Amino acid sequence: MRMRLKKHLDERLDACKDILIAREVEDFYKLKPEERNFTVDTAQIFEQPSNALVLEIGCGKGAWAIQSAQRHPDKNYLAVEKLSNVIVAACEQALPHRLPNLKFVNCRAENLDCFLPRKCVSEIALNFSCPFPKKTYANRRLTSARYLQLYKDLLADGGVILQKTDDKTFFEWSIDSLRENGYQVYDICYDLPEGGDNVETEYERKFRAQYLPIYALKAQPNK
Ligand SMILES: C[S@@+](CC[C@H](N)C(=O)[O-])C[C@H]1O[C@@H](n2cnc3c(N)ncnc32)[C@H](O)[C@@H]1O
Repeated sequence: MRMRLKKHLDERLDACKDILIAREVEDFYKLKPEERNFTVDTAQIFEQPSNALVLEIGCGKGAWAIQSAQRHPDKNYLAVEKLSNVIVAACEQALPHRLPNLKFVNCRAENLDCFLPRKCVSEIALNFSCPFPKKTYANRRLTSARYLQLYKDLLADGGVILQKTDDKTFFEWSIDSLRENGYQVYDICYDLPEGGDNVETEYERKFRAQYLPIYALKAQPNK
């Protein structure tokens, strides 16, 4: 049964190969550091490669990336998700829209430096990242020190991180972590309004339906 499910998943992933442009191999950590080079050529994958690149990390089923790419044809979107059974759903949602400015990468955020050239990203979107509330898992939070260092390498000059979450404790922890790791934090918002420029994610829709506040911020590496 398990084998059949896996075969079915592989077939579904294969059917998405036009937009799913890279996948982390199963034995990634067995590779020598010099063999971990899967860098995607952003000039090849997008029709308008000179447009700003937005990276969404932990895209889930892709609603935010799809709607954002539709709204902003003048930007390129790369949506990253570590779970292959989740990203396949995102790709399947995206395929019928035929968006030339949206692609997907199936990898762990911690390995993004093996998939992307340095300084190629204008915006990093962290939408409702897992808060990992246990202290012992704090280094898995996507706003912990090791990730913030990696984002500095990926962000082009003037690049920005945009975070949204429903979790106030995680939000305030992220503000401290960003500041401690050399970022200036601004546009801190404790109740992000609906509509306007804001594109809702799947998780956001659930929380807004319960009338819960959404926390948001922007951050840039200090000059
Ligand atoms: C809580 S969900 C939010 C999904 C979507 N952004 C939304 O707002 O609806 C977080 C997603 O991040 C993914 N994720 C967590 N840690 C990750 C990592 N280190 N690298 C890539 N994806 C990750 C999870 O698999 C999950 O799909």
